[in-house]
Amino acid sequence: MVERLAGATLECIRCGSTFSGPEDLYACPECGDGLQLVLDLAGFSYSTLAASWRARPPGVWRYRELLPLNGGGEVSLQEGGTPLLRVGNLGAAAPGISWFAKNEGQNPTGSFKDRGMTVGVTRARNLRRTRVICASTGNTAASLAAYASRAGIPCAVLVPSGGVAQGKLAQALFQGAKVVAVKGSFDDAMKVVVEAAKRLEAYVLNSINPYRIEGQKTAAFEVYEQLGGHVPDWLVCPVGNGGNLAAYWKGFQELKAIGATDRLPRLVGVQAEKAAPIADAIQRNLKEIVPVAKPETFASAIRIGNPANWSKTLRAIRESDGTALKIPDKLIMDAQSLLARREGIFVEPASAASVAGALRLAQEGTFDKGDTVVCVCTGHGLKDPEAAMAAQRPQKAVEATVDAIVAAVVGGRA
Ligand code: F0G
Repeated sequence: MVERLAGATLECIRCGSTFSGPEDLYACPECGDGLQLVLDLAGFSYSTLAASWRARPPGVWRYRELLPLNGGGEVSLQEGGTPLLRVGNLGAAAPGISWFAKNEGQNPTGSFKDRGMTVGVTRARNLRRTRVICASTGNTAASLAAYASRAGIPCAVLVPSGGVAQGKLAQALFQGAKVVAVKGSFDDAMKVVVEAAKRLEAYVLNSINPYRIEGQKTAAFEVYEQLGGHVPDWLVCPVGNGGNLAAYWKGFQELKAIGATDRLPRLVGVQAEKAAPIADAIQRNLKEIVPVAKPETFASAIRIGNPANWSKTLRAIRESDGTALKIPDKLIMDAQSLLARREGIFVEPASAASVAGALRLAQEGTFDKGDTVVCVCTGHGLKDPEAAMAAQRPQKAVEATVDAIVAAVVGGRA
């Protein structure tokens, strides 16, 4: 069967200028704001699309009609199709709420970034690009390195020196990326990545690349299908650069446009307290963010002071009648631990921010009885073992005898 793909126009999110052709456009040359791919969905209806989707296995490419790339030949590691898990044991704080965790840590490289990279790297390969590049707090680097190896494209990743969790660094290095440790923060690396790419003739695969967002929006389609054809009342998501929350919003809006639903969720963006320019702008009702010069949090994935997609993200939160929160590290740590101990889901610190945020909203009475709340858990806990171990007491070895083992398990009370 030949699929009919939705046509797409590259468009500025602010001034509406449209562009055709350029491969390396990551911001509007007219006004400087972000770009998005606007799909022509006339003639597409959910009822016909759903029949094709259901005939395919779960995953990003199940939704290929709404991915603006020529079909076939995708660079894939079978990303997407992650579980939406009911997490009722967190719900003591909010009786009557249906809580779910979208466990994106189960993607091939352990984070949601794989959804965007399968689309972005497929495009790089279709364009016959000879190098790909990104700036990253770790997960984007690990993901890009994996997909680039599979496509046979040399890859460079710029990471803040000393600011990336070991697991992610190991992935990027082992998968053959040229890892460049940059002095300063992620923001410093992000500031130079497009110019560096020009010199290196590299294709930029940060989330300012609109094709990344196209892949990531498929998570919204999955949530809808996994909820039996419903959108949640609330979608709570950690925010760094803001690409992911904006991608969910695009996905839900497209579901509405094709007649799958007439409702949209309210979006909640969650940031770490000392790296929270987006939450700050929402809470103070500012038009623009005020960048944080020295962002600080143990959740290194979202240690970002000048989010690249701030404008898209503010817009998505406001359009959805949502909100944004600043959560202290201690509460993020508690949520990470709660999710592991009560539900068996081990996520990295940034991912736990969504759960911490949802718990706060529950305590504040924001949710109504009967609401469905989806927390996006963006990355796997094994990526950042140092952060997890820092919260544990050191292990003392015991003799290999039954007595010693029983005593160790029950604290000498056997
Ligand atoms: N959670 C995790 C685990 C992440 O790695 C990131 C971003 C986010 C949340 C925030 O997503 O930027 O779309 O708002 N990590 C990027 C990286 C910055 O380089 O891996 P966002």
